[in-house]
Amino acid sequence: MSSQALKRYEAKLAGLERKARLRTLAPQQGIDFTSNDYLGLASAPRLTAAIAAAIGEGIPAGAGGSRLLRGNHWAHEALEAEAAAFFGAERALYFGSGFAANVALFSTLPQRDDLIVHDALIHASVHDGIAASKSEAIAAPHNDADAFDAAIRRWRDNGGKGTPWIAVESLYSMDGDRAPLKALAEIARRHDGFLVADEAHATGVFGPGGRGLVAGIEGDGNVITLNTCGKALGTSGALLGLPAILTDYMVNRARNFIYSTAPSPLIAAGIREALRMIEDEPGRRGRLDVLCSLAAEQLQSKLGVIPSGSQIQPVMIGDNGRAVRVAARLQDEGFDIRAIRPPTVPEGTARLRISITLNVDEEKITAMTDCLAAAIAREQR
Ligand SMILES: Cc1ncc(COP(=O)(O)O)c(C=O)c1O
Repeated sequence: MSSQALKRYEAKLAGLERKARLRTLAPQQGIDFTSNDYLGLASAPRLTAAIAAAIGEGIPAGAGGSRLLRGNHWAHEALEAEAAAFFGAERALYFGSGFAANVALFSTLPQRDDLIVHDALIHASVHDGIAASKSEAIAAPHNDADAFDAAIRRWRDNGGKGTPWIAVESLYSMDGDRAPLKALAEIARRHDGFLVADEAHATGVFGPGGRGLVAGIEGDGNVITLNTCGKALGTSGALLGLPAILTDYMVNRARNFIYSTAPSPLIAAGIREALRMIEDEPGRRGRLDVLCSLAAEQLQSKLGVIPSGSQIQPVMIGDNGRAVRVAARLQDEGFDIRAIRPPTVPEGTARLRISITLNVDEEKITAMTDCLAAAIAREQR
């Protein structure tokens, strides 16, 4: 390969560095204020023991093929049956990641004459699914239910004949705030459309029994959910909750379901145990609640941060370079906190995304908020 061919990429990376947007892979170190392992399940002995037991039972590490060929293991089907019951969906369909599930859903279900109205802050995986879909798409201002309604009405007035799809995150990954799900489900119902709620950050943490924020409005038949397994469920993969017809349609048409090796049956066994832990160990949610309240209280009193009301607490910095510097100071002090910059968040809203998990305690939260207050004060001098 000529060095000229590589130079274009080098120039692009240099451009990112000038804007303090360059990403690099950093080792996992420091006290965890970054991961999505909200309930501390990823390394919980009960979960790892279940995976070890599954190995003992002969459940294989690899599926050996697509679900449509030899790769359809009973562990996948058992997981899907249990997940459908747990999340209150007619059926569940398991994918190797939430990203893959969103791409599959949005590239497969909305049809050419449909409209997708998505929240302006929706996750990158939904954008990629929409980019691969044949239907029209439009962004609605963040959490503005009336704007979703108005966009659908405008589309119908202009001759829109198909089905409208509303796409939101039930709990936003970078802001920690919640979508107005009840109002959106009602709008979807009124327009004979679907509401797709990405529960990635609510699964296992919110809703009755950790069943997510959609619990209580599920069962209308027009609400589709995505529950990821790589966050509070401590493993990896994702479960779509769908009506049976749409599940069958996905199995027949979702290209990244059909033409991809099935996820590991061993991990499927692990997720089944994680669901049982969510059910049997409500104390984990209670403990997380206590830690979140303490962190919110301290961030408000020491830094004037407005509480998000969840385990995800953004601390807005604005400037990319400043966000990176503050994060670096915290990392030097032993706290794993990362700067989140555009394009992950809108221009001018670089922030620290603080995630509260059961991997920390009161003492660590107090030390972190003291250190953060000092780092920000130093930056303002
Ligand atoms: C809202 C949201 N949806 C989907 C995903 C993708 O899930 P996964 O990490 O399982 O690919 C993420 C992950 O960051 C997310 O935050």
